[in-house]
Amino acid sequence: MDSRCAIVTGSSSGLGLEISRSLLHSGFIVFGGSRSGTDLEHENFYDVELDISLSASVDEFYETVREFTSQIHLVVNNAGICEMASVGETSAEVFEQHLATNTLGPFLLFQGLESFIVKNETHIVSILSTAAHYGYPNVGAYNASKFGQLGLIESLKKEWKEHKVRFTNLFPGAIDTPLWDKLGTKFSRDKMLRSEDFMSVFDFIVTAPAVIQFPEVTFLHREGYLE
Ligand SMILES: NC(=O)c1ccc[n+]([C@@H]2O[C@H](COP(=O)([O-])OP(=O)(O)OC[C@H]3O[C@@H](n4cnc5c(N)ncnc54)[C@H](OP(=O)(O)O)[C@@H]3O)[C@@H](O)[C@H]2O)c1
Repeated sequence: MDSRCAIVTGSSSGLGLEISRSLLHSGFIVFGGSRSGTDLEHENFYDVELDISLSASVDEFYETVREFTSQIHLVVNNAGICEMASVGETSAEVFEQHLATNTLGPFLLFQGLESFIVKNETHIVSILSTAAHYGYPNVGAYNASKFGQLGLIESLKKEWKEHKVRFTNLFPGAIDTPLWDKLGTKFSRDKMLRSEDFMSVFDFIVTAPAVIQFPEVTFLHREGYLE
């Protein structure tokens, strides 16, 4: 394989699906990981089963990737879950699920990635959230898991300095994706960004000259934070 290779976690829905489409259009070979898979068909798309919260599943994911390439140029750390409830109404199990998917998941993803890094080239784009540095009511589990993910990335940046990996942390506000269908909240979709808005930022960052670093990019609907 001599094309650039990308991993996209959470490629079955929402942002991960749009990101996968866009990267394929730009000529990337894409290894998409999710539990449910996708109908997306493209000669350069590999739909690989992945439960990011399970170490054995992440290992199997990388074994599949290794059959095709030993170099990953772009990682989109995107898979995530969100449920809404006050802290008092959140069960310990739901809290643990958030940590397992949104914090342990990226930890396992990065551990497995190290041997695929291309010095001076590999770019890791993490889809965090404004909830990684801003506390919202009724999403304590999500807030905690995204703050935790940010802490992990900030530590890794220093550990991997010699690899010359480029880290981009995106902190988007609410975006109208299927994630909100399951939440049944009062929030108006008119005050959320559309997937196309998100993709305009994502595409700009991924196609910018490699010498540019975007350590933190926060962007949200002009109406402000949803709360
Ligand atoms: N939508 C927003 O308002 C918003 C705002 C800021 C940040 N974000 C972040 O953006 C990311 C994508 O969200 P979205 O809006 O596109 O949500 P979405 O449509 O619900 O998609 C979530 C994706 O994550 C995958 N996923 C969940 N648990 C997984 C697991 N254990 N293993 C592997 N994949 C898993 C899902 O795939 P399977 O279920 O098939 O496994 C799905 O592909 C998330 O990290 C979210 O926190 C979203």
